[in-house]
Formats: sequence, C-alpha cells, structure tokens
Amino acid sequence: MRLVVTHMNLGQWAAEYIQGKINSAAPTQEKPFKMGLPTGGTAVDMYAHLRRLHQEGTLDFQPVITFNMDEYVGLAKSHPESYHSFMHQNLFGGINIRPENVHILNGEAKDLQAECEAYEQAINQAGGIDLFLGGVGQNGHLAFNEPGSSFESRTRLVDLTENTIQANARFFQNDTTLVPKQALTVGIATITDAKEVLCLAIGDKKAAAVARVMQPGTDINCPITALKLHPNATLLVDEDACSLLDEKSRARLQALQTAEPQAKQWCLEIEE
Ligand code: GLP
Repeated sequence: MRLVVTHMNLGQWAAEYIQGKINSAAPTQEKPFKMGLPTGGTAVDMYAHLRRLHQEGTLDFQPVITFNMDEYVGLAKSHPESYHSFMHQNLFGGINIRPENVHILNGEAKDLQAECEAYEQAINQAGGIDLFLGGVGQNGHLAFNEPGSSFESRTRLVDLTENTIQANARFFQNDTTLVPKQALTVGIATITDAKEVLCLAIGDKKAAAVARVMQPGTDINCPITALKLHPNATLLVDEDACSLLDEKSRARLQALQTAEPQAKQWCLEIEE
C-alpha cells in the first residue's frame, strides 16, 4: 500500500488518475472497465471533475460498469440523501453511462439478504472490479464496514455505529434521529478483491485513521488498514489528514518534500 500526499485538489487528482486508468484500459462494450464507487462529501469534488472530463470529451463512460459501495436501509431511493439520489446528482446525471451498467444496492428490498447475495454475484459475473474507489470514515470505516468488521466480510446488512450516525447527521439537518441506523454495504473482502483500490481522506477529521494506517500491522478496529494487505492500494490524502502522523512517518514525508518541494505529490510506501 502507498500513501500519496498532495497539495492539489484531491478530487482533481483522483479524477485525472481514474481517467488515465480507464483510457489506458481502452474498454469496449465487450470488455468494459469496472469501477467500485463511494458516496460522501469526499467524493463530491472527484465526481465534479469526472463530469468535467466527460464534458470536455476526454472520458467516455459508455464502456464503464459501476458498483456502488453501500446504501442506507429504509430510506426511499427518491429521498434526497439516499445514495441513489447522491449518485444521480453528483455523477450519473452528468455523464453518458448506460443505466443498465449502474449498480446500487437496494436498501428497500423486501429480502435484504437476497439483495446482498445477488450483488456479490453481479460483481462476479461482471468479472470483478478493476478499480475500487473509496473514502474513509472518521473511525476508519470503509464503505459501511464499521470497526470490528472482518477483513473476509462480504456484502451484507450492517448496523451503523454512533460515530457514523453523528458524522452523517450533517446530511440530515444535523438531527441524528433522522439518520438511518442500518445500511447495506459491500464487505471488506469485496473491496480488496478488486485489482486496484484508491481511497481518499481529506481534512483533520480523518487524521487519526490515516495515522493508524502508518503504524505497523493491520487493525480490525480500523477497517481501512485492510488495504495494507492489498498489492495495489493507494490512500490519497491532503496535509490536514496527515496532522497526526507519527514522528518517523512525518520525517519520511518531510524528507520527500524537502527533496522535491515543487512535486505534485509525495509517495510513501507503507509496509504491512
Ligand atoms: C460514509 C460512507 C463511506 C464514506 C464515509 C466518509 O458513511 N458510507 O463510504 O467513505 O462515510 O464520508 P465523507 O466523505 O462524507 O467524510
């Protein structure tokens, strides 16, 4: 796993990276590019830049298949804060993806377990995910895999922690009673099965999770550390998200920044 620190807008960095990945794969209808997608505040800029790249004519989403990470349970798809609404508003409404290529878990399904099993099957049938994108929860959660989730976990129904309910209350008039208490989420193994994973962490609220990633070993109570076991995973962060780094990591970063002050990004390899 690597930590990439940049002063650039992270959304722009990520969108241009994704564009490079899609275009160099030269996808077709027969051999589409398959992406896992997050929601959340962190993803908003990235999606705006992806829409821009599409509008500029340099990024075609016709041969792209997407699988979203998660969805609230018991919130209508039409609710403005459902992840269905989020995705339509922030990405799908502004690009040329085929509607049949979009997959989002249905949190209103009558049989939630069957919904989760069908989702795993659909990912397998598509041939797996080429690039899974993600954010990071303040408590280190990945999709809605809360602390304590098994690294072997698959798509399933989960209870949200108090920390996540509070963090997401900002999207529900700051009223925690309005935040759904359960969600469907892909599992950690669903994410780490992807050929490549790119997660973004912006701001000091994510600093504790980023600091934990830089410490030795993995930690089931900080799900994002599961990416340390992946052969091609990147955690893209800004300086604020690095504010709690241990001294050794900070010194490594400073050495890179001193050597190349004008660089667009600095990359630290993270050992398991
Ligand atoms: C939400 C989502 C996650 C997201 C995370 C961070 O609860 N389920 O997939 O990565 O929290 O959200 P934000 O980017 O708004 O900080």
